[in-house]
Amino acid sequence: MRVMETKHEHPEDKRRSLYRMFTRVPSSYDLMNRLLTLGLDERWRKKAAKKCLAAGPSRVMDLCTGTGDMVMHLSRLSKNGKRELHALDFSPPMLNLARKKVAKKALIPIRFTEGDAASMPYETGYFDAITVGFAFRNLTYRNPHTPDHLSEILRIIRKDGRLVIVETAQPDNRLLKFLFRLYMKVFVARLGGWISGHRAAYRYLAYSAIHYYTPAEIKELLLQSGFSRVETYPLMGGIAAIYVAVK
Ligand SMILES: C[S@@+](CC[C@H](N)C(=O)[O-])C[C@H]1O[C@@H](n2cnc3c(N)ncnc32)[C@H](O)[C@@H]1O
Repeated sequence: MRVMETKHEHPEDKRRSLYRMFTRVPSSYDLMNRLLTLGLDERWRKKAAKKCLAAGPSRVMDLCTGTGDMVMHLSRLSKNGKRELHALDFSPPMLNLARKKVAKKALIPIRFTEGDAASMPYETGYFDAITVGFAFRNLTYRNPHTPDHLSEILRIIRKDGRLVIVETAQPDNRLLKFLFRLYMKVFVARLGGWISGHRAAYRYLAYSAIHYYTPAEIKELLLQSGFSRVETYPLMGGIAAIYVAVK
């Protein structure tokens, strides 16, 4: 099976290389996301946030929150409800950008925590729902810590709680798959690297997206790690997808 395969790299080296990459993010990070997806990333995050809130969760956490785009949607959509919102990331610069962004808006309060997905400072079963926006790939693609990330996510979600993921996927249609890969190689890896000045980071983004799991493999990974049910919602012909996994 392809799903749990990992590159031969020392586990700590993998954690450190991802950590280094995400602590050197450019201030243009959000702008690059909008440019490279033509704004679709935000539409997809909002859709995922709505799916997360559909079951009326009281305690929600946005895992790997980055600059906070997903948790901002969760906050805006929660305006009239009593809801406890948390956001966690291991990159201090990303969290600083998120805090600044949130401070400018009149939103319901968000508790930001610096921490690692492999060992989170929350009680077992604390959250009714967790979201992961475009970071599940970082947590699971050739990452030797994948089992720790998955078991830790499962631990902090309550029984019947939800994990909602939005992530790049692999389109079934051969022409779309070809165009998706071309786009990743030319626009994301080359142009993204050139404009942002962070070539290695955008190369990693493009190549991990090209080689990432299919929706069927993601579903299998989630079921194997202990979720009882997984629904998949393809986006734009399958270039991305939302997954709703129930514990
Ligand atoms: C591609 S960004 C996605 C950010 C955000 N969720 C979004 O929708 O744009 C991936 C984020 O995951 C964080 N991250 C990666 N591995 C992590 C880990 N093991 N623990 C905590 N955060 C992690 C990075 O610091 C980065 O902010």
